[in-house]
Amino acid sequence: MSYDGKVAFITGGASGAAFGQAQLFGRLGCRIFIVDVRGDALEEALAKLRAEGVTAEGAQLDITDRAAFARVADQVEHVYGEPPYFLFNTAGVFAMGPSESSTYEDYDWVFGVNLGGVINGLVTFVPRMIKAGRGGHIVSTSSVGGFLTYDGNTLYCAAKAAVISLMEGYRGALEKYGIGVSVLCPMNIRSNIARSANTRPAHLAKTGYVVNDETVASLQSVYDHGMDPIELAGHVRRGIEANQLYIIPYPEARPVMEQRYNEILDSVLPVEADPDGVASRLATIDVWMRERGTIFEQKSPDAPA
Ligand SMILES: NC(=O)c1ccc[n+]([C@@H]2O[C@H](COP(=O)([O-])OP(=O)(O)OC[C@H]3O[C@@H](n4cnc5c(N)ncnc54)[C@H](O)[C@@H]3O)[C@@H](O)[C@H]2O)c1
Repeated sequence: MSYDGKVAFITGGASGAAFGQAQLFGRLGCRIFIVDVRGDALEEALAKLRAEGVTAEGAQLDITDRAAFARVADQVEHVYGEPPYFLFNTAGVFAMGPSESSTYEDYDWVFGVNLGGVINGLVTFVPRMIKAGRGGHIVSTSSVGGFLTYDGNTLYCAAKAAVISLMEGYRGALEKYGIGVSVLCPMNIRSNIARSANTRPAHLAKTGYVVNDETVASLQSVYDHGMDPIELAGHVRRGIEANQLYIIPYPEARPVMEQRYNEILDSVLPVEADPDGVASRLATIDVWMRERGTIFEQKSPDAPA
């Protein structure tokens, strides 16, 4: 695949996985546009990218702000003359604590950034990418946690599960436009995500979780030993080139995922438990699939509701 001159839009680009993507795809020849909620960190990241010869532009953006997202999308087209070919929905925040202590503000922040930010990236850019007619590739970052929810991390994992689900649906939809769709599910990245609370907005400050120097240092001690962001971006590159739906470059995820999926499969009744019901329900769906025609597909992708 040629990366030369292709526009790559990357959320959360000032740090961690997203900055690694900016470096790797920039070195491959992409024209990079990074956004981040932290203006100073964004400027530093842009300076580093440019210092190594990468074509890089950027804007301060809170990805939960839909109007601002649209303005930045216009800015990308103005600066580079076209919408992105690569859309990396990478920004995310982390919060952990007992499920039962979660406040509405915990929900609104964790879901707002981790799921809402991805939704906003899709609704902002997918119609523009389709209209440009050049194809492309979308990679949204979820987490192995999106497959494995556990107490202490419920909200984060639930939001990440929804991101996996979204990518699964968009993949089928966008194939006809030549736009590939992947979901990156990391397990541990060397990044600054332990300090996520620093970007938490004041109006969503009320939390049911303990966040202090000790909890941040404890999390950081794990992330310090995570995968290098450029190495992770290399896995993303290979995932794009192979047009993989799931990019899960962490072998240690397999046993826990096997256990989870076996538990789910073991909960499905065998056909012998209800053979007549199975036959009748499947026959109905089969007829409906053949007869529904195109009634759900009449609206063009950029037509208003
Ligand atoms: N670090 C891990 O071990 C790990 C594991 C699994 C998944 N992930 C996911 O990887 C992605 C990247 O995280 P990272 O570990 O590189 O973290 P990071 O904190 O180093 O980078 C995230 C960046 O997103 C930015 N950001 C936060 N809120 C934002 C908002 N509202 N609008 C715009 N930008 C915002 C931050 O300022 C930061 O620069 C996230 O989606 C995260 O959930 C991380």
